[in-house]
Amino acid sequence: MRKVLGLVVSNRKLGNSELLVKEIMLNIPEDCQFELIRLPDMKIESCIACYKCLEYDNGCVKQDDFNFVMEKITQADALIIGVPVYLLGPQGCYKMLCDRLVAGFKYHPYTAGKPCIIVVPYGTRRWEGYTRAALLVMPHLLQMKIVDYWPVFATLPGESFINEANREYARNLGKRVFQSGPFVPGPWECPYCGSDLFRLLPGNKIECPMCGIAGDLQSGRQPNFAPDQECRLSEHQILEHFDGWVREMKTKFFEKKDQLKTVQKGYKEFDWWIKP
Ligand SMILES: Cc1cc2nc3c(=O)[nH]c(=O)nc-3n(C[C@H](O)[C@H](O)[C@H](O)COP(=O)(O)O)c2cc1C
Repeated sequence: MRKVLGLVVSNRKLGNSELLVKEIMLNIPEDCQFELIRLPDMKIESCIACYKCLEYDNGCVKQDDFNFVMEKITQADALIIGVPVYLLGPQGCYKMLCDRLVAGFKYHPYTAGKPCIIVVPYGTRRWEGYTRAALLVMPHLLQMKIVDYWPVFATLPGESFINEANREYARNLGKRVFQSGPFVPGPWECPYCGSDLFRLLPGNKIECPMCGIAGDLQSGRQPNFAPDQECRLSEHQILEHFDGWVREMKTKFFEKKDQLKTVQKGYKEFDWWIKP
């Protein structure tokens, strides 16, 4: 039987994220086993930058719930994520999870090509900020097939389904979790990663700050990106960066350790740290 995991990234019980995720799951026609994780209930501490995850095969050395969450994500045949917009970005627990994926490529054999849907309730029109760009990173890091990124305007808990059209959309999404190909970004989004943010460069050039592809922007026209560019979120580039460059930096660190220690030493005595 297929397994479907719902990842709800909101503390609000029966809030919009939870309802949207559940409605999608309820409409999956295939025989499935369902599990839900409320991410803010998990103990996911911040990455301590030890890079030990690059060495070991058994995940992160930190004793918190990260390995449990990743085990559940890798065991699932489909992932439905519900994340609200908080302060122009995704709810912070999502970023905490994402930061722990320096060795995200180690999960590729289990996650690549599996369907992922991201549903994003937000409460104020045009206050989505950088949410879309930030949310797409994790499924790309895991090489999942992003079936849909669905922003839902809903401020109050449950408001998402006061609008019947939203319930209908959620039902249809549920029906096609295992049937659909990857979503196709719109004309004003990055054709490679789906981000809606661009960096302006001199000479009418633009760059996708997320996947790094380059293009140009002629006034009044849609952004134009040359085809066949390799984006940094491709499996090949991810391996090259995290399994290659980051590992090299680790070796370099040991080579330069004494020199670095000398630089750091000059700041050690200023121990002004405070705690509550
Ligand atoms: C701390 C906080 C910050 C928020 N910031 C934004 C924001 O920047 N932009 C926005 O559109 N909505 C914002 N909202 C509204 C939520 O995105 C909206 O209410 C959403 O439906 C909450 O989803 P939930 O019910 O699953 O928690 C914020 C809500 C909270 C509690």
